[in-house]
Formats: sequence, C-alpha cells, structure tokens
Amino acid sequence: MSILQITLIVCMFATDRSLNVMTVYPCGPNDTCTCTYEKQERITMDCEGRGNLKLSEICVFIENVTSLKAGRNNFGNLTALHLKGCENLIEIYFNFNQIAHIEPTTFQDFRHLHLLDLSRNLLQVYSKGWDASFLPKNLHTLKINGNPIPDNANFPNLDSHDNLNKLTSDGVSNTAFNLSRIASLSLSGLNLETQCYLINLKGSFHALVN
Ligand SMILES: *[C@@H]1O[C@H](CO)[C@@H](O)[C@H](O)[C@H]1NC(C)=O
Ligand SMILES: *[C@@H]1O[C@H](CO)[C@@H](O)[C@H](O)[C@H]1NC(C)=O
Ligand SMILES: *[C@@H]1O[C@H](CO)[C@@H](O)[C@H](O)[C@H]1NC(C)=O
Ligand SMILES: *[C@@H]1O[C@H](CO)[C@@H](O)[C@H](O)[C@H]1NC(C)=O
Repeated sequence: MSILQITLIVCMFATDRSLNVMTVYPCGPNDTCTCTYEKQERITMDCEGRGNLKLSEICVFIENVTSLKAGRNNFGNLTALHLKGCENLIEIYFNFNQIAHIEPTTFQDFRHLHLLDLSRNLLQVYSKGWDASFLPKNLHTLKINGNPIPDNANFPNLDSHDNLNKLTSDGVSNTAFNLSRIASLSLSGLNLETQCYLINLKGSFHALVN
C-alpha cells in the first residue's frame, strides 16, 4: 500500500515537470535571436549583442513574445517608428545601447509594459528638468543606473508614475527624493551595494553619499 502511494506521488511530480518544460527555438530576423517559451503568457526573445540587428527589424518578428532582451546592440536614440510591432511587450531590456534621447511618443501605444531597462545608456536622467513623461504609466520596474551623472546631479522626478515600485538607479549625492511609492530600491555606484526593501517607508529619503 505504501509503495503504491509513493509511486503515485513520483508520477505526479513527473507529470508536473513535463508540463513545465521550456521550449527554446531560434527566432527574430534571420533566426539570429533565441526564443524561450515557458507558457503563452511568458515568451522571451533574446537578441542581446547581435551586432547588426536593427530594432525595427526585431519588432516585426515579435508576435506573442512578452519579454525582449536586446541589450548591447547600439540602437541609439528611440522613436515610436523603431518600436512598431513591439507595443504589446510586458518587459523590455534596452541596456547598453547608446540611447541619448527617447522621443516623447515612443511608448505611447504600450499598454502592458511593466519593466523597462534603460541602464548603461547616455540618457540625461540625472540632469535637472529631465522629462520622464514618456515613460508608460503602468510601469512597475525601471532601471536607469549607468547613465551619465553630471555635476549638480538631480534625482529624476518620477512622481507621476503611480505604479512604479521598483527602481534601480545610481546613487546621487546630497539629493532628497520622494520614495513614497517605491517598495524596492537598488542604488548602484555606492561603496556599499545595497538592495533596500522600503515597503513601510513613507515620505522622502535622503540619498546616501558616494
Ligand atoms: C537576412 O539575411 C540576408 C542575407 O544575409 C539579408 O539580405 C537580409 O536582409 C536579412 N533579413 C533580415 C530580416 O535581417
Ligand atoms: C499567439 O497567441 C495566440 C492567442 O493565444 C495563439 O492563437 C497563436 O497560436 C500564438 N502564436 C504563436 C506564433 O505562438
Ligand atoms: C541622439 O540624441 C542626442 C540628444 O538629443 C543628439 O545629440 C544626437 O545627435 C542624437 N543622435 C542621432 C544619431 O540622432
Ligand atoms: C511624495 O509623493 C507623494 C505621492 O505622490 C505625495 O503625496 C507627497 O506629498 C510627496 N512628498 C514630498 C515631500 O514631495
């Protein structure tokens, strides 16, 4: 009796595992990217560092992809035209792409974008008056670390982004910023790399000094 029970449990595990199996297949322009299918709601296209790929070409092949990893491709400045076809993405990783400017309308048709990685680009995010209004309103996670830090750096004003609760940023010295909604903050460029969970913290927070 107990042997039978154990066998049944093992079978259940085996069935479970076979249901969770991931499928990996070539995709994108000329099959130069790699797609990973976990389930219908989670399909990742990895086009990292593919050299000559254009963003507009990648977006033609997006179909049901939910997450696009396209760091290290030298895309340069972004406009809505470059991203035509990518509007249903939930996650975008555009780290290390020489992006200095993002047109205000670039993400206007993005309804589901929850994560945007703009780290290690040339964006003026820490300059006074930087306009974050191009960021989609439903963004939950934003990564902006590794962009240029000018003298007199300011922490970007993200007050109008109600859903933003996870931020990865460089630490900006001597700057106060309003963290009332940020549940998870990661500041790089500090002596001590920290991941702070500030779920119960309300009001403003003085950034640690470099
Ligand atoms: C695929 O590769 C061919 C030959 O290298 C090239 O002419 C064509 O533009 C590529 N197509 C795409 C979508 O990149
Ligand atoms: C995309 O999703 C739709 C709706 O879930 C499905 O019918 C279709 O087969 C999917 N296409 C691909 C290429 O996965
Ligand atoms: C990208 O934007 C920056 C800043 O607005 C500008 O100086 C640069 O000329 C733009 N680059 C291209 C290739 O358009
Ligand atoms: C911080 O943001 C919250 C929510 O937007 C706002 O109610 C509060 O007044 C702000 N605090 C400061 C010090 O700006």
